[in-house]
Amino acid sequence: MSALLVLAKRSDSSRAFSARLREFLLTQESAVRRAVGGFSLFTRFPFDAMAGVLERLFVPGLFAHFAARKKRIEDLACEAVRLGAKQVVAIGAGLDPLVSHLLDRFEDLKGFEVDHPATQQVKAVLLTESKLISPVLVPADLANGTLADALQRCTEFSAALPTLFIAEGLTMYLTESEVKALLSTGRALGLSSEGWIFTCMTHRRGSSFRFSSQTALADAWLHLKGEPFTWGIERQGIPLLLSSLGFSNAQIVDGGSAVARESAAQGEDIVYIPLPTTAREALTPDPPDPGAHTSAVDNERNGS
Ligand SMILES: C[S@@+](CC[C@H](N)C(=O)[O-])C[C@H]1O[C@@H](n2cnc3c(N)ncnc32)[C@H](O)[C@@H]1O
Repeated sequence: MSALLVLAKRSDSSRAFSARLREFLLTQESAVRRAVGGFSLFTRFPFDAMAGVLERLFVPGLFAHFAARKKRIEDLACEAVRLGAKQVVAIGAGLDPLVSHLLDRFEDLKGFEVDHPATQQVKAVLLTESKLISPVLVPADLANGTLADALQRCTEFSAALPTLFIAEGLTMYLTESEVKALLSTGRALGLSSEGWIFTCMTHRRGSSFRFSSQTALADAWLHLKGEPFTWGIERQGIPLLLSSLGFSNAQIVDGGSAVARESAAQGEDIVYIPLPTTAREALTPDPPDPGAHTSAVDNERNGS
């Protein structure tokens, strides 16, 4: 946990990022407090020390990885909005206030969070109590329905707008076919322009995907809680997966990032699929070309 505070001080901390990191620390704190609930001795310990011990026991370097991942994803999301995204949909956002901060920063942006109904009940209460701008909350269990179905039911969502999808820390809880359905959302909805930021486990040990520093204790804990990682993909398999889904311009971003490469846990990467440049053209159209038969937007889906 103290690694996060150090990172916050070292990074080029904009006001929004510092605020977000503080909130993130709070969500981590409550998660750790719930994890040790019932042990009153532990709850009297200074929080930093306790979190540090738990991190070393379960996944050394995890908090540095979280901090680096969140900073990188926030930067990529801001870039995508500047490149033309008019709508952002965070899937499995949990308690992360990223979309609220994007809504605060970009006036015309529409924001949505699609999450498991149980998680979203908690989020709705916290949003009401906080001063954060609330995204449109769309409850959906992706193990029992698709993201496309959920967004089709949401009247505020517009398939006509360039859309950025963000799925951070989610795909490891889905099956491969659920991940494929997730990434096919734009096609299913007939979006003319979409971008993606998602994370996936890329480090395999034996038959399972995990952080490279993950301990046997963490494996046992996830198994006991019924939350083992169900999906991952090695880096070399990502281009093939994405091209089979119609994406040709993905970038794999090292989840550790330059901010904390040495101390961060390795094994989860960020995949960034920028919005196609046609999104910008669609927003600021060139004067009509009398010789043109169809618009670039009609012809292109993410540059393919
Ligand atoms: C580890 S949390 C990640 C939270 C946040 N994105 C972050 O990275 O800090 C996993 C999120 O995935 C969501 N999730 C897991 N399985 C899901 C499912 N079947 N349908 C919808 N959401 C799911 C959980 O509700 C939770 O919000």
